[in-house]
Amino acid sequence: MRKKVTKAIFPVAGLGTRFLPATKSVPKEIMTLVDRPLIQYAIDEARAAGIKEFIFVTSRGKGALEDYFDHAPTLEAELRKKGKDDLLEILKDTNMDSGAIAYIRQHKAMGLGHAVWCARRLMGNEPFAVILPDDVIAAEKPCLQQMVEAYEETGGNVVAAMEVPPEKTSSYGILDVKEDMGSMVSVKGMVEKPAKGTEPSNLAVIGRYILTQHVMNNLNKMKVGAGGEIQLTDAIAQEIENERPVYGFRFRGQRFDCGSKAGFLQATVSFALARPDLRDEFAAFLTSVTAEQKAAQ
Ligand code: UTP
Repeated sequence: MRKKVTKAIFPVAGLGTRFLPATKSVPKEIMTLVDRPLIQYAIDEARAAGIKEFIFVTSRGKGALEDYFDHAPTLEAELRKKGKDDLLEILKDTNMDSGAIAYIRQHKAMGLGHAVWCARRLMGNEPFAVILPDDVIAAEKPCLQQMVEAYEETGGNVVAAMEVPPEKTSSYGILDVKEDMGSMVSVKGMVEKPAKGTEPSNLAVIGRYILTQHVMNNLNKMKVGAGGEIQLTDAIAQEIENERPVYGFRFRGQRFDCGSKAGFLQATVSFALARPDLRDEFAAFLTSVTAEQKAAQ
């Protein structure tokens, strides 16, 4: 029997410089798509996949994140007094069982691999998930749940993968494919942000991973890689050298890169149009704005 994946690491210690000045005082993960912060989408996805322990790797200035998952007694009492049961219900999703959530500090932004390594003492000898909240994935079955199901079949390390246009490969970790089995590919190499023209494929790794304890052990020995950071990709690629399996998983769903302004705006539009309470008014607005733009050209 494979060990179940019940722990997830959420690396949220990055500086979020692409959203300055907003991220000077607001953590990127608290920025909202419609009315829910990015981190809420990530937590909901993790819960759907059976995750029971949530480990945040944070940094200075991320206090708003900790408050978000805390009870808010004054607010809750006020809503109760006013009979606002619907709003109390909405708040329930933000509450965590005691002890289910842990915060670890990454003292210096030394890269994603380093952030994951910071959580090593909480992980034990079992597989774990890593979720980057700025990758938001709209899917009928949540992406991590799809991956956990795939992992239960194959074991090994499973990374979420998607095809990207050739001009974008240098922004991602890229897979060197050994065998393509459709939704799963087995991997013979991985390279972080390959120089243009050197990419082994256009299959890019995005922010969902199921990793074995070996990857954490590899991070113990990792040296600074591409961009002067400790790369998670390098620690996963090490597993291939150690002859342990790494798979890319082509998830079903639409991924938005909410770490970039364009991606965040696209996600906002898409999520707003999916909301029954907003759809009609918002669609009418978009139609009129588009028509005005066309007329002005
Ligand atoms: P990004 O590469 O998007 O960096 O990190 P960033 O700092 O969040 O944003 P920009 O590029 O300055 O705008 C991807 C994920 O890895 C985490 C980030 O918080 C984000 O979830 N991360 C990155 C860390 O936790 N620590 C790091 O040292 C680097």
